[in-house]
Amino acid sequence: MPKPPFDLAGRVAIVTGGGRGIGAAIVTRLAQAGATVVIANRTLDVAEALARELAVEGLAVHCVPFDKLDRNGLRVMVDDIARQYGRLDIVVHNAGGCPWSSLEDLDEAKLDDTLALNLNASFWLAQAAIPHMRAIGFGRILVTSSVSARVAMGGGAHYSAAKAGVNAFIRGAAFELARDGITVNGVEAGFIEKPGRGTMSAPETKAKLERFIPVGQMGSADDIACAMLYLASAEAKYVTGQTIVVDGGSTLPETGFAVERQWGL
Ligand SMILES: NC(=O)c1ccc[n+]([C@@H]2O[C@H](COP(=O)([O-])OP(=O)(O)OC[C@H]3O[C@@H](n4cnc5c(N)ncnc54)[C@H](O)[C@@H]3O)[C@@H](O)[C@H]2O)c1
Repeated sequence: MPKPPFDLAGRVAIVTGGGRGIGAAIVTRLAQAGATVVIANRTLDVAEALARELAVEGLAVHCVPFDKLDRNGLRVMVDDIARQYGRLDIVVHNAGGCPWSSLEDLDEAKLDDTLALNLNASFWLAQAAIPHMRAIGFGRILVTSSVSARVAMGGGAHYSAAKAGVNAFIRGAAFELARDGITVNGVEAGFIEKPGRGTMSAPETKAKLERFIPVGQMGSADDIACAMLYLASAEAKYVTGQTIVVDGGSTLPETGFAVERQWGL
């Protein structure tokens, strides 16, 4: 019997920001595919609640605190996890986001924090993972990016710049690691519905937005997680340096997310 596709049995994965939202969906998909998953999360209680929920299904999910975004902090965390679980196959840098701000009001702290979380931490997480992945001749370095890398969003120039940097990082790192069995890819998420989404969850706003999304609805966290599962799998060995756009076709029309501004979303 051939193995089912996207089987991750025996693999060890780290997912940053895996306690909720898109990260939680990624954790769930990777664990359901058989991986041992470590959720690296700022708030441990949230991650532990998810781990307990998944343990009921017999899935192997563990948690560590993740709030040191610097090079050394991430290296210590990654080394500890690789030592404890015996190997490291997959890292997903999913933690991200930004404090929205007009360009005029943007201060240094907001810009620095946005770059540190979304972009710099992608570098440091990948750098820490490389020796462990080289040791087993297999690696999947994945980042949750955003369509904001390519389309303008009012109040988010710093976020767009960070995610565009992520996409460029993915291409550069993929090229460098291509001979090591290590692939580097990302998923560019569009409008993803999740609990606590704020204004975008307001039914009238959502309805307006969905008129402009070609598939007619906002995406789910699981839509992103399914793309991540594919990229994490052995089957995706010939895909590297890519960001898969999962946005229901939102960025197909030339106007793209200009609707956002029009509605003051
Ligand atoms: N939801 C969307 O529509 C959407 C669209 C495009 C891209 N994304 C990206 O998807 C990823 C997940 O976002 P989400 O929508 O699930 O949002 P979310 O706010 O639920 O998740 C973000 C995660 O990042 C973690 N995080 C934030 N700041 C941190 C910090 N300083 N240190 C450590 N952890 C920190 C949070 O604890 C949380 O777990 C992010 O990278 C985001 O940029 C989301």
